[in-house]
Amino acid sequence: MPSASAATRTTLPELPPRNPAHHPLRLLEKARKDGKPLFVSAPMVRYSKLPFRALVRDYGVDVCYTPMILAKEFVRHQKARVADFSTSESDRPLVVQFAASMPTDFARAAEMVMPYCDGVNLNCGCPQSWAIQEGVGCAMMGKPEDVAAMVKAVKERCGKEFCVSVKIRVHRNIEETLRFVSLVEGAGVDYITVHGRTRSQRSSIPPNLDAIRAVKQHATVPVLANGDVFTLRDALHISSYTGVDGVMAARGLLTNPCLFAGFEKTPWGALERFLDYAFKMNVPFAVTVHHVGEMMEEMVTRKERARMVENCRNIVQLVEWLDERFVLKRKGEEGWSEGVDVPRKEVHKKAEVQEVPDVGNLTIQNDVVQVS
Ligand SMILES: Cc1cc2nc3c(=O)[nH]c(=O)nc-3n(C[C@H](O)[C@H](O)[C@H](O)COP(=O)(O)O)c2cc1C
Repeated sequence: MPSASAATRTTLPELPPRNPAHHPLRLLEKARKDGKPLFVSAPMVRYSKLPFRALVRDYGVDVCYTPMILAKEFVRHQKARVADFSTSESDRPLVVQFAASMPTDFARAAEMVMPYCDGVNLNCGCPQSWAIQEGVGCAMMGKPEDVAAMVKAVKERCGKEFCVSVKIRVHRNIEETLRFVSLVEGAGVDYITVHGRTRSQRSSIPPNLDAIRAVKQHATVPVLANGDVFTLRDALHISSYTGVDGVMAARGLLTNPCLFAGFEKTPWGALERFLDYAFKMNVPFAVTVHHVGEMMEEMVTRKERARMVENCRNIVQLVEWLDERFVLKRKGEEGWSEGVDVPRKEVHKKAEVQEVPDVGNLTIQNDVVQVS
């Protein structure tokens, strides 16, 4: 087992060696034997951090991804490593996602995180203009030879056993996607995740399940499907329609981290559990309140959510705000994390019926949460 580089070791605790049973290919095998698709929590910039990963693991997620990390910065700057990556002994199985355009950066970054995770993934799907300008994310969809070179570089540097995967979008011409898949397979990729939208399609457009099915039929390595998994039913439908080996969810898990456990809506207990993790694990308050707002989407009106965001400046104020309106149990109290229905206090029920819920998005700009 190679050891962490000195630079990485100064920021992360010594963790036990990787458990071979957590290798994503072993997990895929196990899921197949269990007769179910592998359930995966997607990479999400800002959000798929330690407390969120801990929460979704408690509710049926088999593998978690970190948010996308820029490999170029990660390998060059200690500050970037500290800011972008944190983990713990129980944070497994874990895949670390990088955005990179150079094989050396991707391979070096993979080597640095190798002792702390079960695989690395290359983001070939980020459609944001800054990513395209940097030549990363979905810019890589037009450069399959470069992606193949990056996969190969990781295998050469970290060894064949270390898991390398890619997360792609589909091209308008499916033949181009299949050619892409063949090239990265030739380079030794272990599995492929397909987000069934093209680089210009917004997330309001349904994913192209036929394109995902075509990739699955063509590929010799396992395939995960991504796009519009909001319930367990969606996950099972997508996997049986496309024949894939696993399904990955992003927005669905943000609003309902318990979807893979079969909950149709976020159970109240999950919120109590999340707050406990957020207290213990260090994330910016803006991220914590964003998660709480997402999870409470169907529990409170938009106005109430906006007020929560406006009035709470730290986690203590957030808990006070919740305490005023709901029965919020603390860890150790009987029934903590077990509640399903929203335990709204009588005095606040009036507010609940008077306000009509409407659509609203919470976004973060410069670490301040805004409602639009
Ligand atoms: C808030 C947010 C952050 C995201 N960050 C990343 C990321 O870091 N890397 C990545 O490959 N995709 C990222 N995505 C895309 C998702 O992983 C996923 O491919 C996409 O949302 C489609 O899945 P869904 O329909 O389940 O949301 C992000 C999506 C959201 C909503």
